[in-house]
Amino acid sequence: METVIYRLDDYCLTDAVSEADREKLKKAASILAEGGLVAFPTETVYGLGGNALNPESSRHIYAAKGRPSDNPLIVHIADIKDLKSLVSDIPEAAQRLADRFWPGPMTMVFRKSGLVPKETTGGLDTIAVRFPVHPVAMELIRLSGVPIAAPSANLSGRPSTTTAEHCIEDLTGRIDAIVDGGSAEIGVESTIIDVSGPIPQLLRPGAVTKEMIEETLGITLPEDAAIRGPLAPGVRPKAPGMKYRHYAPKAPLQLIVGRDGYSGVAKAAAELLLNKAEAGIKPALLCTPECLEELKTLDSFSEKDIIIRLAGSRADRQQTAHDLFEMLRELDETEAEFIVAEGCPEDQLGQAIMNRLKKAAAWQIMYV
Ligand code: TXA
Ligand code: MG
Repeated sequence: METVIYRLDDYCLTDAVSEADREKLKKAASILAEGGLVAFPTETVYGLGGNALNPESSRHIYAAKGRPSDNPLIVHIADIKDLKSLVSDIPEAAQRLADRFWPGPMTMVFRKSGLVPKETTGGLDTIAVRFPVHPVAMELIRLSGVPIAAPSANLSGRPSTTTAEHCIEDLTGRIDAIVDGGSAEIGVESTIIDVSGPIPQLLRPGAVTKEMIEETLGITLPEDAAIRGPLAPGVRPKAPGMKYRHYAPKAPLQLIVGRDGYSGVAKAAAELLLNKAEAGIKPALLCTPECLEELKTLDSFSEKDIIIRLAGSRADRQQTAHDLFEMLRELDETEAEFIVAEGCPEDQLGQAIMNRLKKAAAWQIMYV
């Protein structure tokens, strides 16, 4: 299959879509309406879209990603009015969260209506819905005239895609089109909150933080166990996708986390890097510039022969989130045989960053 690339002239991160770009989006939207698959930018990561009401499109999404069909898709809307037909009821807490965070990087899980095929929800009676704020995503969904099922636009098991280039890498020849709208601003996938039960529950942390949700609802938000650690045998996560070892780089990754902020992290990283290098294993380091500066003051650290990628800074976790998947993909292109990564405190956006890093580490975490 030939994959058409629609390169937008204007990445319109803040504004409405230009006329020239709208013409390209019209073509992409008609592919979606006719049952085809189109990767497109959102503010979190790129999505691999298909008509959520067409079971055949959903089957094609699973096939294109190589994704197990028990892992349900998120359905994207571009108008709050479209929520009603997809869900059986809108609980009060959901309404409050929608008022505050939609459009934006938040997904809610509702009991589904009869309109949505089981192929789209991985056989579940619930449906995950998101109203993205990216102007290109909104315009594309509107023009298609249907709700758009879209998982992250990566091959199953690879890091989510945050640029059109990543989508081209993973999905060329497997889908009909890719809309290039530049780099996804946030860089980690949306927050998922289950509002289908009596008490809302956090299923996946994202840029709408636990603290923000708790403040909005005036409750302490329970979390699914799959967020912070590996699940005990036989325990199922509420979001089926959380059970898979996502975001796995090719080389094993060891995460180093300070029990008290960042103290001791650089020293432990230096030791580990040295051990690996001495054992003839090519080491790589994924860290902040602050960590690298500290490493340079240590006798046990030599920059030579270590592959280094920086992600954001300790003072700018938004940049860390933005860079994370891109750096993991870059490391896959290197000779790295072992990756040492710096963790961060798990408050605010740190929870989302650490959730992805822990999964990339297959829960190999060293606390110092
Ligand atoms: O930011 C995002 O959410 C991106 C963009 C494209 O919108 N999408 C995304 O989709 O991350 P995906 O498929 O990679 O992750 C969806 C997650 C999976 O862990 C899946 O199991 C969970 O959402 N999910 C979907 N429907 C669900 C449901 N009905 N109940 C519980 N979890 C659900
Ligand atoms: Mg995904």
